[in-house]
Amino acid sequence: MIFIPLQEGIYKMEYQHYYLVTGASSGIGFASALVLAQNKRNKVIAIARNTTKLESLRQASENKIGILPFDLEKGNLTALVDDLKKKGVNHLTGVIHNAGYLVSKKFEEISIQDLQKIYEVNVFAPFRLTQHLLPLLKKAKGAHIVNISSVGGIQGSVKFDGLSAYSSSKGALCVLTECLANELKDEKIKVNCLALGAVQTEMLHQAFPGYEAPLKANEMGEFVAWFTENGSKFFNGKILPVALSTP
Ligand SMILES: NC(=O)c1ccc[n+]([C@@H]2O[C@H](COP(=O)([O-])OP(=O)(O)OC[C@H]3O[C@@H](n4cnc5c(N)ncnc54)[C@H](OP(=O)(O)O)[C@@H]3O)[C@@H](O)[C@H]2O)c1
Repeated sequence: MIFIPLQEGIYKMEYQHYYLVTGASSGIGFASALVLAQNKRNKVIAIARNTTKLESLRQASENKIGILPFDLEKGNLTALVDDLKKKGVNHLTGVIHNAGYLVSKKFEEISIQDLQKIYEVNVFAPFRLTQHLLPLLKKAKGAHIVNISSVGGIQGSVKFDGLSAYSSSKGALCVLTECLANELKDEKIKVNCLALGAVQTEMLHQAFPGYEAPLKANEMGEFVAWFTENGSKFFNGKILPVALSTP
């Protein structure tokens, strides 16, 4: 946080860095938002549908995190950006496109509704939200967009039964990362993708009931938050596997 002098003795408080985290009501997004908010220079805005869980996040952060209940599948993105501005967000240093949706079903049983919802949340939302956030990202003069994908979305990785819609959507997010890193380079916006391995969360439990992941959400959240703040110094347009297994 910095203090901008308005007139002698009167100062306006302003955060140096604004970060937006989607899917922050649970799991990796919840943990990443909390870690980012520990830095006094940062103001974190958290997005998800579940208001009760977002309230828990705000409380866990001792009211440092701003919450914006929003459905990335159906919500109005223009209204979302207006709400961000009303919350005082005048630039965005970083966005973590972390929200994700998974359906585990045999290929022939996946309905058009399943497919549409998976692609809406995992691909269309990061695509369209980034379009709407561009004016704020440009103002940061060095913003970092971090897309959260999966090792299952990387070419040549081991694939699992039931995840054709989910893993193919995560593959689309990987390639979108490379396209945006190229297209936004003149705006000094860096774009990277973290292709995560197994982390113990609700989503993992849904996909692989009974499987115990080697990492907890708070451990991965530490890494994602660190990478969002620091990774753009070292990487741009990269799809980085963050996994203990060999893809
Ligand atoms: N856990 C793993 O092993 C693993 C591995 C690879 C990749 N990932 C990726 O990591 C990311 C985080 O997943 P997680 O494991 O932490 O799972 P999680 O705990 O189930 O979190 C998913 C988040 O996405 C949000 N979300 C889903 N649909 C949404 C919508 N329509 N609008 C807004 N928010 C929505 C959920 O919030 P609401 O329900 O409140 O809306 C929730 O906060 C996902 O992109 C996932 O694909 C996870």
